[in-house]
Amino acid sequence: MRFQNGFFLLVATVAVAGICVPRAGSAADAKKGEAIYSQSCAACHGSDGKGALPGVPDFNAKKGVLSSTDAVLAERITNGYQSKGSAMAMPAKGGNSSLTAQDISDVIAYLRQRFAG
Ligand code: HEC
Repeated sequence: MRFQNGFFLLVATVAVAGICVPRAGSAADAKKGEAIYSQSCAACHGSDGKGALPGVPDFNAKKGVLSSTDAVLAERITNGYQSKGSAMAMPAKGGNSSLTAQDISDVIAYLRQRFAG
């Protein structure tokens, strides 16, 4: 009986974790976005968001690139982007093709929390 209860608990835990993990991930998570930013974006954008290379926009600028909607930002991050006359393009997914749509919404949440305004 003891064993059975333990086994039930294990199965229940796995089931709950299996149901909850994707749910927890479906809302944009700025904390996860922070890790993604430091791994895949900070080399060009700088940990302060000011842009570490020429041609990289300052995320802190008022009415800057972060005044676009999430949908616009997600599209540009996903597919890459080069504005008119820009010396350097934003590579698709920052060059990290393993980033998922969820990762990109997490990183946008982080950009807004950390830099916007
Ligand atoms: C290799 C350098 C590089 C990396 C890595 C990089 N970016 Fe960029 N990013 C740029 C450059 C350059 C621009 C400006 C492009 C332009 O305006 O032509 C840019 C522009 C942007 C913009 C503004 C787009 C707009 O609407 O004007 C956002 C948002 C952005 N990057 C997010 C990210 C995120 C998030 C990551 C990480 C997943 C990332 N970038 C990784 C170089 C980079």
